Amino acid sequence: MADDRPILLFDSGVGGLSVLGHVRKALPSAAFVYAADNAGYPYGTKSEAEIASRVPALLGRLAERFGPRIIVIACNTASTIALSHVRAALDLPVVGTVPAIKPAAIASKTRVIGVLGTEATVRQPYVDRLSAEFASDCRVIRFGSAELVDLAEAKLRGKVPDPGKMRAILAGLYSQPDGNRIDQLVLACTHFPLLADEIAVAGPPGVTLVDSGEGIARRTAFLTQGQDWPSMPKGTAVFTSDTPDIADLRPALATFGLGAVQIL
Ligand code: DGL
Repeated sequence: MADDRPILLFDSGVGGLSVLGHVRKALPSAAFVYAADNAGYPYGTKSEAEIASRVPALLGRLAERFGPRIIVIACNTASTIALSHVRAALDLPVVGTVPAIKPAAIASKTRVIGVLGTEATVRQPYVDRLSAEFASDCRVIRFGSAELVDLAEAKLRGKVPDPGKMRAILAGLYSQPDGNRIDQLVLACTHFPLLADEIAVAGPPGVTLVDSGEGIARRTAFLTQGQDWPSMPKGTAVFTSDTPDIADLRPALATFGLGAVQIL
């Protein structure tokens, strides 16, 4: 029997599209609602208290409006700060996005790992815990950048990121002590896989980029195993603010299967 309940993915902006790509591949028959909190963007420069109160409230409204079967918080900042609050507030399975420190540590030969996220994410105790649990014998070098998030947003609106700017931003990571020994770079913000080519070119050669997208897709497929799917899968993008630049995003949204756009 057809089950029309969508999978709801959530981010502050377009970053979660990098996660949606993986989830769609794993679950091609699913219907998706992709919610971007552009009214609250960016999250990475906000306080923990702001994120912890905003995200569960907004997800509550989205859950009421769209009746999803599962929620994927496709945002490291929101997940590392508010995942437990969201799970406590909602009676739905919730998958979070947390930095892929574990696979990076397994793969690292130099035992030096970079973690590139938002300023809010890289200072989280959640990242301390992941580092202690999975990378205790590695040096974990963190760097937070709001500029890089903006460049990813601009890229999806058709603006090519400036290579000089990219190099200057990444120097903040690689010029730290032992930064030149990084061999695994964790993309700990869902916006950054959208800039993977530019990030790779702007850094030294031989660095492998690692993100959480595939792991999240596997987890989402596992939690929805055996369920029925809609007869006609479709994708809707939802924004929390009606801004003119949403029009510039339409081509990118369409490539992720999001043909319809709504304002919450
Ligand atoms: N995409 C988000 C993340 O994974 C946050 C970007 C932002 O709003 O600062 O952290």
